[in-house]
Amino acid sequence: YDKIDKKARKVLQSNDRGLYTVPTKGLYPYQWNWDSAFAAWGFSVFDAKRAWAELETLFQGQWDTGMVPHIVFHKQSFGYFPGPDVWDINRVPHTSGISQPPIAATMARAVYEADKRYGRIHMELLYGRLVSWHRWWMKNRVENGMVCITHPWESGRDNALDWDAALVGVDTSEVGEYHRSDTDHVDASMRPSKLDYDRYVALLQLSKASDWNERVIADKSPFRVADCGMTFMFLRACRDLLHIAAEFDMGTDEIEGWIFDLKQGVKSHWNEARGHYDSVNVRTGAFTNTLTSASFLNWYAGIRDDRQLKHLHRILDQVQYGIPSLDPDNPHFDELRYWRGPVWGMMNAIIGIGLAETGHTVLAERLRKDTQKLIAEHGFYEYFNPVDGAAAGGGEFTWTAAIWLTWAS
Ligand code: DGY
Repeated sequence: YDKIDKKARKVLQSNDRGLYTVPTKGLYPYQWNWDSAFAAWGFSVFDAKRAWAELETLFQGQWDTGMVPHIVFHKQSFGYFPGPDVWDINRVPHTSGISQPPIAATMARAVYEADKRYGRIHMELLYGRLVSWHRWWMKNRVENGMVCITHPWESGRDNALDWDAALVGVDTSEVGEYHRSDTDHVDASMRPSKLDYDRYVALLQLSKASDWNERVIADKSPFRVADCGMTFMFLRACRDLLHIAAEFDMGTDEIEGWIFDLKQGVKSHWNEARGHYDSVNVRTGAFTNTLTSASFLNWYAGIRDDRQLKHLHRILDQVQYGIPSLDPDNPHFDELRYWRGPVWGMMNAIIGIGLAETGHTVLAERLRKDTQKLIAEHGFYEYFNPVDGAAAGGGEFTWTAAIWLTWAS
């Protein structure tokens, strides 16, 4: 695999814009939050200095509230919608106004552990920023221990079926004309629908009209969903932050409190009727009744609960390359459409890590080998058809290269 390792490094290097990495050329020409966390992890294999720079550059976008935006627009680029002019946030560097899965603490820990001598001072400097981001989530977004999103883009799983019911209430009549550029780069059949995009834009406009005030958005927006993927990833990140706090002799009480609350919240994500973890529409209290790859992140969150293993085995036997973004038995399963069916290497990686850590070593190894084969045979794509491995979305993708170097190879 030496040759593929070299290629993976080249993907990271070719997406490197100096102090941050773009997810892929063309489709995503700025710095994305969770993509960058994965990039940092990837760089940590061969360049600790560059790995830390990635995280530090991301946190240049952090707001005074503690929020770390989902996109940081360091310099103007063309061919992306919605760009800095649409978000229209009055700060430098320009940013979007919503967040993304908070995995930076987890990846910062991994980067630190890859080279502690080099990383010590960087971790000391980043630590306070990580804590203030986590505090922002706890204050504004955690309800009954579950992490709520105000926009599908925040989940990182933009067009997942989980959001459909909650999106019905979004009024798109005032959206106006806009040109989406994603479909200039990738076939429309692999991207969210026009209706999805109208709703994304409407929610952006609504939050902008609320002056990005979290209280107002919480009161006014029709869309508020407690995302089980977010709760699991955030719980994991809090545990990693706690680990760092203990190692650096920082106070741990506050973080322990967060972990306690989130563990309670995990129980509310359990959909007993369906036998899996699920997201909850906060406006109605209803489960979304959707089994997705995010449901399987409980092990990654340190929750040793094996009730979903039968689903996991069933799905692994139905497809070839790991855990698809939507249960193949779901009538909406669409093997190429973004988060409604395709398999994502980075999701396989974090699910696999969780399984390995909780003693499911055979399953974890199967997932790793399947992902290895997928990337070795089909390339560093954004996502793939889980049945035949056909490439989908953007090519030469940063996080796919990153998980190759850190986990799959
Ligand atoms: C996009 O533009 O598709 C991104 O996923 C939103 O952040």
